[in-house]
Amino acid sequence: MEDISALKGLIGGFRQSRILFTANNLRIFDFLNKPKSAKVISAKLGTDTRATSILLDALVSMGLIKKNGSLYENLPISSEYLQSGRPGYQGDIISHFDTLWNNWSGLDNVVKTGSPNRKAANHESFIRGMHNLSILKVKNVVDAIDLSDVRTAVDIGGGPGTYSIELAKRGIDVTLFDRPDTIAIAKEYAGSLANVKFIEGDFLVDPIGKGYDLAFISQVFHSYTTRENIMLLKKVKKSLNKKGKIAVQEFYIEDNMSEPLEGALFAVNMLVHTEGGRCYSVNEMQSWLSKSGFTEVATSRINEAVIINAQASG
Ligand SMILES: C[S@@+](CC[C@H](N)C(=O)[O-])C[C@H]1O[C@@H](n2cnc3c(N)ncnc32)[C@H](O)[C@@H]1O
Repeated sequence: MEDISALKGLIGGFRQSRILFTANNLRIFDFLNKPKSAKVISAKLGTDTRATSILLDALVSMGLIKKNGSLYENLPISSEYLQSGRPGYQGDIISHFDTLWNNWSGLDNVVKTGSPNRKAANHESFIRGMHNLSILKVKNVVDAIDLSDVRTAVDIGGGPGTYSIELAKRGIDVTLFDRPDTIAIAKEYAGSLANVKFIEGDFLVDPIGKGYDLAFISQVFHSYTTRENIMLLKKVKKSLNKKGKIAVQEFYIEDNMSEPLEGALFAVNMLVHTEGGRCYSVNEMQSWLSKSGFTEVATSRINEAVIINAQASG
């Protein structure tokens, strides 16, 4: 970084995040589908009128809403992504980031001790937030998975089930494996889809079932150590049919662990929240796959993520 204005952007960057988190927590965007004054909005929200108008003006300045005279209203970006009930709603992931904010505030101590700081937790917004993120790219991600000859699949750490549901819609019998409190939420998203089944447990210790043509492991490795991930891959290999396949999705990071920025920042998130997790490079994951009996077939990038397809090698 050579530019002082870029440095200033970093120093004050938290302010815009905080304003967005607070507006999201107050559900301000749900009230702005029609033009309203700060007085009307604060009366609906039960908030202070002066404070609300200052917050609303900042949201205007940030390009999230517009102001006409004294009336505020959503812009397309806020009505599409910040108003609850919309297909692209991102409010749960914003709420999850608000939780992360609390834990990241302990980063000084995390770096001193090497131990995580995960006192703040909100499982509901974490899992629903995963759905917010995945729903924007699920079709592209599933398109990047080799589904030829796949009739049965297991979605390891399937979370809200966004990928399981898309696989099921493509005619595959899917088993979503996750912890009980997550599966309760996934069942809600899956609704009455008949070909999604659920197994509750801890994939490091409990049986994960067998007879699968495909295992999908999305955004799971970054919470665990290399040793744990290889252990999981070996277990997954045993659960697959002969010539079974595996598809992995993770945040992309180069071997230098510093690029791209999103991957490096996500590694800090895992430092704050886990004992031994971080971002792993494609080369690292490929070496685990080959140690666990898989041969890499194809790797592709989708935005900030990488998808690795591999095949059981005997
Ligand atoms: C970051 S989320 C990813 C969810 C989903 N795969 C996706 O990509 O949207 C990680 C998921 O793995 C689950 N998980 C993590 N460790 C687990 C374990 N030991 N046993 C079962 N599920 C686990 C979490 O409950 C969570 O649903």
